[in-house]
Amino acid sequence: MTTVCYNMTGPELDREAIAHAAQVIREGGLVAIPTETVYGLGANALNPEAVKRIYEAKGRPSDNPLILHIPGPEWLERYCERVPESAYRLAEEFWPGPLTMILPRKDIVPDRTTGGLDTVGIRCPNHPVTLALIEAADLPIAAPSANTSGRPSCTAADHVLEDMDGKIECILDGGPCSVGVESTIIDLTCEPPRLLRPGGLPLEELERVLGTVEVDAVVTRQMGEGERPRAPGMKYRHYAPHAPVTAVTGAPAASAQYILEHLDAQDGVICYDEFAPLFPNAEVQCIGSLQNKGEQARRVFDALRSFDHTQVTKILAQCPDSTGLGLAIGNRLKKAAGFHVVDVTGENRPNPGFRVIGITGGSGTGKTTALRVLGAMGVAVIDCDQVYHELLLSSSELRAELQAVFGNVFDGDRLNRKQLGEVVYHDPTALERLNTITHKYVISEVKAQVEDAKRAGMAGAAIDAILLLESGLGDLCDVTVGVTAPLEQRICRLMERDHITKSYARSRIDAQQPEQYYKENCTCLLENCGSPKAFAEASETLFQKIMEVKDHE
Ligand code: TXA
Ligand code: MG
Repeated sequence: MTTVCYNMTGPELDREAIAHAAQVIREGGLVAIPTETVYGLGANALNPEAVKRIYEAKGRPSDNPLILHIPGPEWLERYCERVPESAYRLAEEFWPGPLTMILPRKDIVPDRTTGGLDTVGIRCPNHPVTLALIEAADLPIAAPSANTSGRPSCTAADHVLEDMDGKIECILDGGPCSVGVESTIIDLTCEPPRLLRPGGLPLEELERVLGTVEVDAVVTRQMGEGERPRAPGMKYRHYAPHAPVTAVTGAPAASAQYILEHLDAQDGVICYDEFAPLFPNAEVQCIGSLQNKGEQARRVFDALRSFDHTQVTKILAQCPDSTGLGLAIGNRLKKAAGFHVVDVTGENRPNPGFRVIGITGGSGTGKTTALRVLGAMGVAVIDCDQVYHELLLSSSELRAELQAVFGNVFDGDRLNRKQLGEVVYHDPTALERLNTITHKYVISEVKAQVEDAKRAGMAGAAIDAILLLESGLGDLCDVTVGVTAPLEQRICRLMERDHITKSYARSRIDAQQPEQYYKENCTCLLENCGSPKAFAEASETLFQKIMEVKDHE
């Protein structure tokens, strides 16, 4: 069979592709569907023959029931008996979205779909392509995750192709999944309701609506011989790459340290971005920064899957704490590890040696090298320019304040940074007003990230900012380090790095603070006047001294 892949990532819905996929579904075929959680392998849920093909394509045991995908709560009563009022409340709050409810089923749903159970799992996915498909087919779509049974779930169409090419009629490529872990499953047939699988909707959100929620044992431990979990799928080995996985829980710095100590050549590591510099010689998959669980959820399956393209002999994975999305991310990693879990320390270990180091200096002086050295020492690096970028996207308060003053450089809700740059370049008063607004937000976000790093047990935090001292960020630091380099060297580096002319590089440097400024205002200077290797060594010596001082206090 040839598998047709439709690219559905454009802004307009491809009606022809939808019509074709709907026809495949109506005729009993298989279509891989994008959802916000993971890709699904869809078929007509009411047709036992079509559903049988799902099990065959996945190599899935037939007692493991499928989830019905519907366009909204108005279809609940078609397939479910005795729908409780709480189901409608949940649907109102969280649908379309990553929540599956288990409810008593009606006879119209075949045994083949529910694995013989008298209940059915049902959800409304949040993806325009799949919602359009369900509507066009006018049928509920049964869909497990689109991976081969036992492998990590698919969060991109490429992964589906890897597992399903030649086995299914069609793939709708709706882009990478925005949530990245499967839906949360809540059983509403018991009292109190029971969490059967943590997923894209945090447990805390369910508790907010339902009050007490019981957490089923399968969420945290391996099922024993002969045990029959309420979600049959939870007893199977899951999400596993070929190489064996160890999940390491505990404060992130401690789990990183454990991994470092137990790592052999040929091993793979799954870690937070901040710790990647600790493993320069390993096969490393980063899953996002420490505090960004959304990113970790999006990347965890991709990370697990990617090791199957390498020769690694075992995989050591840092595991998040179990709040918010952490419960689902940790559950997937632990299941991938067959619940082979090492717990290194309790969370929130106080770290008396924690230091906050400010790094500043002009363009082309070599700050990046110095920061890389700090990263390798277990220090969390906070890039203030990146913090500012992210705040512009995430903080509507910041955007509103900027809009009030610089309304003319906004395209709708989006700030045009280039235009803003031109406005303030020739107008010192405007620049001052801009900085007053942005520094306030950046400082409070950086403060929060420093606290995160401290809680995580990192050795310290480095704040990387050109305007470290002028903005007030310097006040957060135990030590401020000014990085300097000879003018000629800076000019060469800027010309090479930014592909600019000598005179332009010169004018950029002239617009910045002179070396004297850092000499007078920083705790110490770090001079970059030799080879890159010599500079890295000098950086390491200085930073080690800075980290040690505190230990002896
Ligand atoms: O996010 C998701 O839920 C994705 C996308 C494609 O929607 N689907 C998904 O399906 O993860 P699957 O089949 O890989 O996992 C469904 C889980 C299995 O563990 C299964 O045992 C459980 O849901 N399940 C399905 N129906 C159930 C029922 N009636 N009672 C208890 N557990 C059920
Ligand atoms: Mg699955």
